[in-house]
This record gives sequence, C-alpha cells and structure tokens, in this order.
Amino acid sequence: MGTYAVTGSASGMGAASAARLREAGHRVVGVDLRDADVTADLGTADGRRHAADEILRLCGGALDGVAAVAGVGPNLPDAAAVASINYFGPVALLDALRPALEHEGGGRAVVIGSNSATTVPMIDDHLVGLLLAGDEEAARAHAAGAQRSLPAALAATSPSISAYATSKFALARWVRRTAVTPEWARRGITLNTIAPGAVVTPLMTGSTLSEDDLDPDTFPTPMPRGIFGRPADIAFWVTQFLSPEAGFTTGATLTVDGGTDAAMRPDAQPTAMPH
Ligand code: NAI
Repeated sequence: MGTYAVTGSASGMGAASAARLREAGHRVVGVDLRDADVTADLGTADGRRHAADEILRLCGGALDGVAAVAGVGPNLPDAAAVASINYFGPVALLDALRPALEHEGGGRAVVIGSNSATTVPMIDDHLVGLLLAGDEEAARAHAAGAQRSLPAALAATSPSISAYATSKFALARWVRRTAVTPEWARRGITLNTIAPGAVVTPLMTGSTLSEDDLDPDTFPTPMPRGIFGRPADIAFWVTQFLSPEAGFTTGATLTVDGGTDAAMRPDAQPTAMPH
C-alpha cells in the first residue's frame, strides 16, 4: 500500500480524496489549516515550508503521490491571498515534494484547477505572467490593484473572481510546462490537473447560493447534465491520477464539470497546431 499527501484534507474534495485513499488501504498525510496531520497555511512561504518539512518527516522522504487540493473560492475578499493560496500554494509544495516522488516506478501528482480557467472571461494576462514567473510579491500587488476596478455588482458577490480564474489558469499552464521537464517526466513522475465545475462543497455554497437554492437550470453557467458535482465525483479522478497504472498520462487537464465547458465553448477543443 502507498503513502499519499493530500492538501485541503479537512473538507470537500480533499476530504473525499483522503477518505477514498484510506478506504483503499493507503496511508494519507493530510494537510490543512485545521483538523489535519499537518496544520499549515499554504498561503504563506513559511506555511508551505513547514508543510513540506512535516510531510517529508512523516513519510520518511518517500511518497507515492501528492494531491494538491487545498484552495479558496472567488468569494474571498482578498485577491492577493487567492493568488498566494491557489497558485503558489500547490506550486511551491509540489516543487518541494518532487524529490520524494522520485523512486522506482515514479510517483504521481495531481492538482485541482477549475473550469473557471476556461469559462470565466476575466483572465488577467499580466497576472498570469507574474504567477508563472514565480514573482509572488508582484503578483499579490497586481491582483490587489486589479481587484479595485471590478464592477460593483460583481465585487459584491465574487470580489476575487478574476484572481481566482487567473490563478487556476496559470496553475494548469504551470502543470503543462512542468510535467514535461526531465526532472518530472524522465524520473517517471506524472503531473496533471483536474478542472472541476460546480461541486457542492462549503467553498461553493459560500461563493454562490445555499445548497437548498441550487438549481442546475437557473445556475449562472450551463449545467448540461442537470446535476451538480459532489466531492466524490472529483475524488474518483484524483485516485485514478494517483494510481501507479496512470503512468502514461502527464501534462493533461481533465475537465470534470457535467458538461459546462463543452456547452460554453464547444469548438475550443481540439485546437489545431498552427501551420
Ligand atoms: P472546501 O472549502 O470544502 O475545501 C478546501 C480546503 O482547503 C478546506 O479544508 C480549507 O481549510 C483548505 N484551505 C484553504 N486555504 C488554505 C490554506 N491557506 N492552507 C491550507 N489549507 C487551506 O472547498 P472545495 O470545493 O473542496 O475546494 C477544493 C479545491 O477545488 C479548491 O482548490 C477549489 O479552488 C477548487 N474548486 C472548487 C470548485 C467547487 O465548485 N467547489 C470548483 C472548481 C475548483
């Protein structure tokens, strides 16, 4: 049986992923702000360092897989914190844990992005550049500044919507760029993104409507399947990506959203190679 680190293990998709791994007999090192094996704030450099040190100590320096699930939603008032938690949290932690995934057979890593990266028309290109350049200070300052020009109606409900979608966009791009580097690919380590749509968790009901008021037919984005996702729908794919058999899939983004992205942008994929 394997040893896996799961961030965001105290709630929602992270809790469901940890539970599914434990049910299969694996050992899970959970990381969260509370109720976890490792208590750490992944929104800060100190917190990430502490999380990585503690995970490595608890697993004896060897991991079969990492699921970077922890994150916050677009309702968080502080756009700078959204950039730190949703982008630098998983990126810095995975960079620190990569050596522990380097072993016979190769380890597995999966991050939780969001279909908002492709369905929210508010991607901030400048912020994408700062995030991918690893400049957290400049990214935080830019996200906070850009937030001030958000229309009032949007600011009232989703004050960090642009930073949220942009951090998830940059995260998926970081995954594609990083997964194919020799340090990951040639050491047998896979790295992929899952992009969920609307999944009923405390994050989602805090961002939009209460669970009782959720109706797929009046939801702001199309819901072709007529249902909302549940944490188990994402945990299923997390455990597939983490399984030893998944060695030929890397740099991929799997959208798990009941058809929202396909309904909004039916012709966006496949994208032809320019000629
Ligand atoms: P959740 O709120 O149920 O769980 C998120 C967990 O992350 C919580 O336990 C929270 O304490 C932890 N967390 C937040 N900030 C942290 C920090 N600074 N350091 C350490 N842990 C922290 O939410 P959910 O929905 O399960 O979210 C999981 C991931 O899915 C997040 O990355 C979120 O952005 C993403 N997502 C959620 C969607 C949804 O509809 N619920 C849609 C698309 C993406």
